[in-house]
Amino acid sequence: MTYDVLVIGSGIAGLMAAIEAKSEHNSVAILTKGNIFKSNSAIASGGINAVLDEKNDVEIQKHIDDTMNSAKELGDKKAVAYLCKRAPHIIKKLVEYGVAFDRDENGAILQRSFGGGSSKRTCFVGDSTGASITQALIKKARLIGVEFLVNHYVMDITKIENYVSGVICLKRQDSSVLVYPTKAVVFAGGGYAGIYRGFSTNAQDCTGDVLSIALRAGLYLKDMEFVQFHPTGFAKTSYLISEAARGEGGHLVNSDGERFVDELGTRDVLSRAIFEQVRQGKKVYLDMRHIPQNILESRVPTLYKNAYTQVGIDIATELLEVKPVAHYSMGGIYAPFTCSDIKGLYVCGEAAAIGVHGANRLGGNSLLEGAVFGELAGQKVKAYVSNKDFLPIDYSVVIKNMQLVDRIFEGECTKNFNAMRISVGKIMFTKAGIFRNEASLQEAFDYMKYLRQESNTLHCIDKGKNNNVELISILELRNALELCEAIILSAMHRKESRGAHHREDFPLTCKEGNRHVLIKELQKGFFKVAYEENLFTRWFQKILT
Ligand code: FUM
Repeated sequence: MTYDVLVIGSGIAGLMAAIEAKSEHNSVAILTKGNIFKSNSAIASGGINAVLDEKNDVEIQKHIDDTMNSAKELGDKKAVAYLCKRAPHIIKKLVEYGVAFDRDENGAILQRSFGGGSSKRTCFVGDSTGASITQALIKKARLIGVEFLVNHYVMDITKIENYVSGVICLKRQDSSVLVYPTKAVVFAGGGYAGIYRGFSTNAQDCTGDVLSIALRAGLYLKDMEFVQFHPTGFAKTSYLISEAARGEGGHLVNSDGERFVDELGTRDVLSRAIFEQVRQGKKVYLDMRHIPQNILESRVPTLYKNAYTQVGIDIATELLEVKPVAHYSMGGIYAPFTCSDIKGLYVCGEAAAIGVHGANRLGGNSLLEGAVFGELAGQKVKAYVSNKDFLPIDYSVVIKNMQLVDRIFEGECTKNFNAMRISVGKIMFTKAGIFRNEASLQEAFDYMKYLRQESNTLHCIDKGKNNNVELISILELRNALELCEAIILSAMHRKESRGAHHREDFPLTCKEGNRHVLIKELQKGFFKVAYEENLFTRWFQKILT
């Protein structure tokens, strides 16, 4: 089977890209490793930022300013302006596709406050905005003939002379490795915050596979040190407590009953403030008890229900214990305005580092980014394939992947991949998490390097080929470990604190840090680090000496 365009990922960015790319003259398919209804976009609950009136230049400028302020000097002005100016159009388009945003009695779309925003501009569908948007987009995509190849785990791309030519996948159903020839590819496979397993709002399989594929294809990753910690997850399960809860008036209180932070500050500031309380031995709670029950039931119905079913708390009358959890990755594949350095390969959504979030993303801007730049990637890819032919497949990469799968099946299993990925999450959270320093990063790096070596000897206990969960988990873990090295090395290079990256040994923001850290892997375990304006190369070995 061949496709003119293959989109990897079925979140908001991938869906928008596929819809835009599709025409009656081309074939477009979305590849996704799991269930199309369970993307990370679907759990982004609180809303999507937009000024609704495209002529309201004052409010649009405020949206631009808030986004730039939150990005801490690392936002790309042009990309941010494009994002915010395109937002009113995107909301109209989503409504046209069937998204039923909550409205007031006059039919106007309601908007709520979100942290770091100087105006109420977050449009929402209760507290399940991402799910409502993705469901509407899936319907639209199906209607216009986009195909869905579900349960396809993408392993690598093939290219010829820097032009993309195919996508290599593992079909979960029978563990066969196959290649789809294609004229162009859109990477929209999400971010890597799920690597912080046990300390993340993300689905467990959101561990950055496409970023790892990008590294193997020779691309740069950018800003990998910036991992956003959402201030509020359930303390017990890490389940996301939407910012909507605070946007609707919820308070944060410590075990002494004191409020200790402005609840509508940016996520980096709040996460650190909560973590400090926990370090002092205090617990932190979300307090919604002063909010009328009808507001809780209509504005945060999912939270209301899940607090009860997951941890037995009635938020109308009881405090809900919270903890900060990894939620979003600002870092991603270097892709200005969605274009990568490989011809025919576009990148959008959380997988991309387009430059709109800089050091810290504003809540409500991720769904917006996915929609705006998904649309743009789709438009670009559609134009690109209109006059292109299929190119030959480099079968050496296909064979390499087949051999890898065979090796994982064949060997004797002596190690437990599950224990490994749990400890990856824990070490990344404690050593390369909300607070980091040189020693903790070095410890994390050494450990990840060791585990990466160990991961070469992971094998399936279950040798059955049908829907083998272990196989995918092992492949995901191998990718995740590659990214851990990239995250930690980038964090080691940023010897300052800025946005979501807080170094205890360098607590201040410095002028020299006003640049992006780029990283690529020249060969396994050997990374080249560069800076966006000042291309400056170092081999990792030299950094240590
Ligand atoms: O808190 C939330 O509802 C998450 C939204 C976001 O990450 O933008």
